[in-house]
Amino acid sequence: MKNVSKVPIWFMRQAGRYLPEYMEIRAKNSDFLQLCFNPELASEISLQPIERFDLDFIILFSDILVIPYALGQNVRFLKNHGPSLNCINSKKDINYLNFNECLRKISNIFETIKILNSKRRNKNLIGFCGGPFTVLNYMIEGGTSKTHSKIKKFVKEKRTEALDLMKILTELSIEYLKRQIESGANYIQIFESWAGLLESDEYIEFIIKPNKYISNEIKKYAKRINIIHFPRGSGKNYKIFAEEVFCDVLSLDHSYPQELLGLLREKNVTVQGNLHPKELLGEAKNVEVKTKEVLEKFKRNNHIFNLSHGILPNTEINNIEMVIKVVRGHEISK
Ligand code: CP3
Repeated sequence: MKNVSKVPIWFMRQAGRYLPEYMEIRAKNSDFLQLCFNPELASEISLQPIERFDLDFIILFSDILVIPYALGQNVRFLKNHGPSLNCINSKKDINYLNFNECLRKISNIFETIKILNSKRRNKNLIGFCGGPFTVLNYMIEGGTSKTHSKIKKFVKEKRTEALDLMKILTELSIEYLKRQIESGANYIQIFESWAGLLESDEYIEFIIKPNKYISNEIKKYAKRINIIHFPRGSGKNYKIFAEEVFCDVLSLDHSYPQELLGLLREKNVTVQGNLHPKELLGEAKNVEVKTKEVLEKFKRNNHIFNLSHGILPNTEINNIEMVIKVVRGHEISK
């Protein structure tokens, strides 16, 4: 008998600036981090895309930079400018006491997850954190960077300092994820958005080893939890990642090598992705075509439909609706 099923779907940054209902709340709350720490509003924002669209996953509304904040770094989000952090150079520059103390500072996030868990009905609930290297990148660069020259130099010239900080970030992220799981998340995603900055030995030390350790610790803690990894921009290193790091789901951008799909089938890893967010800025007809191309590309793999990065703020709602319509109308037979 044919086993017919559907491709599940959600969007990275599904709660965000392209939604007028988000902008309405945002207009009244100028401090983005405080919004992340307000369980009533953060849970409302997380549910906004679910109220509007037919999606299979709720993602916690928060940010990866709550971790530097928990460690005592000054983190602000400036209008039309993105995040701004005071620059640090070593472990001595952060005055964290212990992990419990850090997590207490951001414990409202766990309250948000508890609210979401009570309202999620049959949807999956995704908790998340940044990959340790990606978080370190923002801590060293002090914000968004075009060249990433400071972090690259830091990794090359102050390796011991860099690895000391990585260790703190990795251990804290694990504790943070465990608390999210305890509060009700059944999926976790690790956003290693800047994995593509590193190569060879640095990729192994700063990307593979910490992500592998996080996966193993989380699986030891709660085997039933589904782990999504997103080592964005990894290119050919996506293969090493899939071989070395335990993933239930691997989120793909456009840099992965063709052979990866066969490897993921062998390892029974689900593919997540990978419609380019820019495709959502054009005509609905084009969106339909591109969505079908993505479904076709991954038809031999277990697949969760998503983008290759977050939804852009100027995305039209119609185009999101079009993607969902195409994905919902598509049946897979295996
Ligand atoms: O996906 C979701 O809907 C859940 C919430 C979420 C946000 N940020 C909310 C947000 C998630 C999962 C993130 C992850 C995140 N944050 C990443 C990893 C994914 C990626 O984009 O690569 C990174 C690198 C950050 C750091 C960050 N946060 C930056 C660089 C910026 C500014 C630029 C931008 O993309 O907006 C943010 C701000 C941010 N995080 C917004 C939202 C909704 C916009 C804030 C606003 O309302 O002004």
